[in-house]
Amino acid sequence: MNFKSIKDMDVNGKTVLLRADLNVPTEGKKVTDGTRITRLKPTIDYLRDNGAKILVLSHFGRPDGEHDSGLSLAFLVHELQERWGADIRFAQDCIGEAAQECAAALQPGDIGLLENLRFHKGEKNNDPGFAQALADLGDIYVNDAFSCSHRAHASTEGIAHLLPTAAGLLMEEELQALDQALENPEKPLAAVAGGSKISTKLSVLYNLCEKVDFLILGGGMANTFLHAKGIDIGKSLCEKDMAEEAKKIMARAKETSCEIILPVDLVTVGALRENAEHDTVAAENIASDKMAIDAGPQSIQNIMDKVQGCKTIVWNGPLGVFEIKPFDEGTNALARAVAEKTKTGALVSIAGGGDTVAALENAGVVSDFSYISTAGGAFLEWLEGKSLPGVAALNAYEEAA
Ligand code: 3PG
Repeated sequence: MNFKSIKDMDVNGKTVLLRADLNVPTEGKKVTDGTRITRLKPTIDYLRDNGAKILVLSHFGRPDGEHDSGLSLAFLVHELQERWGADIRFAQDCIGEAAQECAAALQPGDIGLLENLRFHKGEKNNDPGFAQALADLGDIYVNDAFSCSHRAHASTEGIAHLLPTAAGLLMEEELQALDQALENPEKPLAAVAGGSKISTKLSVLYNLCEKVDFLILGGGMANTFLHAKGIDIGKSLCEKDMAEEAKKIMARAKETSCEIILPVDLVTVGALRENAEHDTVAAENIASDKMAIDAGPQSIQNIMDKVQGCKTIVWNGPLGVFEIKPFDEGTNALARAVAEKTKTGALVSIAGGGDTVAALENAGVVSDFSYISTAGGAFLEWLEGKSLPGVAALNAYEEAA
């Protein structure tokens, strides 16, 4: 599609509203994976070198339109300064007086960070008044958050109708790389979907059944499917009210000849903690007071057997609670097998999503994958073949002019 890059814009002396995705994985106030921050640096450097005043817009978590001090972006200031090598001025709100003061104080090359966009309901509702209040803070809008572009929110969609708009360098790189690798992927194609965000990904899986030959499920996602099949999964993470949705996906997979691979054995624990006492049991034998925390060895073997025959794999979401050792073993084993096959040139491997990247870092294989996207949900929706509202809006201002 046709859109402007920041390199096509004269940003000198202008205030650039830069939509970034600072929704990084954390443990308490510690960033556990800073990939999303580091990958923004080329855009930050370009804008600073060319005399722009930068106001960074981002969400963090899902505060649902209410102020939640636990989800303030203030804790990231130090991390951004370290990774971007620049001072950052923080505004306590993303619109209104605090934001205006922050914008007014910026000199060319300076960076301001505005408070969490999702503290306002107008962000998620794509409220025109809220989008205008954001737009009033700057001269140019740059979207460098491909990973948020599946959301039609004020900062990803609404604002693009109100200001001259360009794609940031990371947005451009993501679109180019995913296009190249996945426009006509070599088959067989497998998708791995795991992790703990279940309901938001389920609708994506329905459509993915048409595109992929194998749908490999892990984590809370797999538990929800096992539950839908009538298997008692004890205390495992699961969205039980999504059972009907899971059944529809299984029916759809049959129609489209997509094979769904579910775990046949699981590592279970009574409590979530490092080195917790654990057992490996068949999926049907999870005790009522236990929770599944990792895929078992037979499940991993089954997945690897499928992956051996594949030419392309896309991966979003870990197979277990990889953050807690030794329950990273299943995810690590698959990650290393995919990395090895990629290195031989026999497999194109694309992984996306904050947790997934952290899991691959943990397995020590990030640099061996064909491409690592910073996007999770957006990457799956893009793969579904959907037009992403944030990407579609990149030329909205130009078209209206
Ligand atoms: C992500 O982490 O995938 C993006 O930041 C989008 O977050 P969301 O799923 O809460 O919209």
